Amino acid sequence: MDLKLELIVLPVSDVDRAKAFYEAAGFRLDLDKAVNEDWRAVHLTPPGSECSIIFGTGITSAVPGSVQGLYLIVSDVEAARAELRRPWHRGERGLPRCRRASPSRERRAIESRLSWVRSSCSTSHIVGEGPVMQAITVRDRAAGLAGLSLTEEPYPHVAENDVVVRVHAAGFTRGELDWPGTWSDRAGHDRTPSVPGHEVSGIVVELGYGTTGLSVGQRVFGLTDWTRNGSLAEYVAVEARNLAPLPAGISHTMAAALPISGLTAWQALFDHGRLAAGQTVLIHGAAGGVGSVAVQLAREAGARVIGTGRAAARDTALGLGADVFLDLEADRLEDVGEVDLVLDVIGGDILDRSAALVRSGGTLVTIAVPPTVLPRNGRAIFFVVEPDRARLADLARRLRDGRLRLIVGAVRTLAEAPAAFAPAQLTPGKTIIRVTEGE
Ligand SMILES: NC(=O)c1ccc[n+]([C@@H]2O[C@H](COP(=O)([O-])OP(=O)(O)OC[C@H]3O[C@@H](n4cnc5c(N)ncnc54)[C@H](OP(=O)(O)O)[C@@H]3O)[C@@H](O)[C@H]2O)c1
Repeated sequence: MDLKLELIVLPVSDVDRAKAFYEAAGFRLDLDKAVNEDWRAVHLTPPGSECSIIFGTGITSAVPGSVQGLYLIVSDVEAARAELRRPWHRGERGLPRCRRASPSRERRAIESRLSWVRSSCSTSHIVGEGPVMQAITVRDRAAGLAGLSLTEEPYPHVAENDVVVRVHAAGFTRGELDWPGTWSDRAGHDRTPSVPGHEVSGIVVELGYGTTGLSVGQRVFGLTDWTRNGSLAEYVAVEARNLAPLPAGISHTMAAALPISGLTAWQALFDHGRLAAGQTVLIHGAAGGVGSVAVQLAREAGARVIGTGRAAARDTALGLGADVFLDLEADRLEDVGEVDLVLDVIGGDILDRSAALVRSGGTLVTIAVPPTVLPRNGRAIFFVVEPDRARLADLARRLRDGRLRLIVGAVRTLAEAPAAFAPAQLTPGKTIIRVTEGE
């Protein structure tokens, strides 16, 4: 017997249309013989055959019977490809559910089903080679911002102690295409194409080998590794310890704006700057991402805060709690007098001139560049922010309780992310990339 079957991927709304078509051609159809509660499927048995094919909303799979020859004819190759390559996760609405299977067992089951379909089909469109996702990538360092593009990339590998997060919202830093970790891994090897963005808020969909502390389905946010693919993607693999649970009441959009600004401000003021109540701190760029959080934290800690920036930043800085504002383009920096701590985010001449303002025993902390001019009788520190789950949790509580405000400006889609990096797109506040809808 030489059977010719069609393997079709259809949206659920087309099932009735397909039923009418195949019944007219003499096929036997069992509608709604669903393989599970979320997946409406059709069993299609050709005339004179014991073999049936299931098709419906999800992957279409053939059930082996007396198949002599099977032809795979996909009516919509792109739809089939998207469906077959899409990563599936337990409990995700609209996707097949494998209740007792782990996500990796589910994937293995899908892969073996795909390989059965491939080996059984004497002619076919090959419709999938493993799960993929949409991501922003860079490949060519010399291309600068023009090298950012939306591409299809492999679903991330989940290593020991990792989780995979379905990204709902992502934050990026404009200068990150200049960071070494964007281009090389920890061994210094080229790691392009690489996915930028190192702030994430989303839902855990997979746990790595031995991962504890987080669970599938949990809302989380945090920092992604500098030398691994980042958060401007549908999925990202992150070490679980770099993430914290996201409390109810904080949106993914807000949470994605918190990790770098919040952790950097805290570590600069308290871990490195040892700021104490009653001291005076000079915070450059006081209305920016890091500066705006630092002003609020320093003020709450009982410090006297001098904020700086351009004239347009005055109201924001004072509104966040700065006692004094200094317009760096109109006022003389030296007029602020001596301070216990300088937090610099600007570098260059502002950083150099700030060293002389540090009182004896005080500290100059910069996150822009390593300082070349040092305080005469004080410490100077340049550092790169580190992940810290406990601190993230504390910052999230402050945000939820209204003790901390974040300034989010534009919210863009993943496809708009390359344009959002461009200086022409600058809007006041942090730009967030909204990858998946839903809280
Ligand atoms: N080492 C680390 O771990 C670390 C962590 C986070 C960030 N960073 C780096 O730190 C820098 C600041 O980050 P951010 O997120 O706070 O940036 P941001 O949101 O752009 O804030 C910088 C602020 O400084 C102001 N500013 C910059 N140059 C100025 C000047 N010459 N005169 C007056 N005001 C000036 C900006 O005003 P305008 O917007 O008007 O220019 C802005 O308000 C970036 O270079 C970032 O890459 C380093």
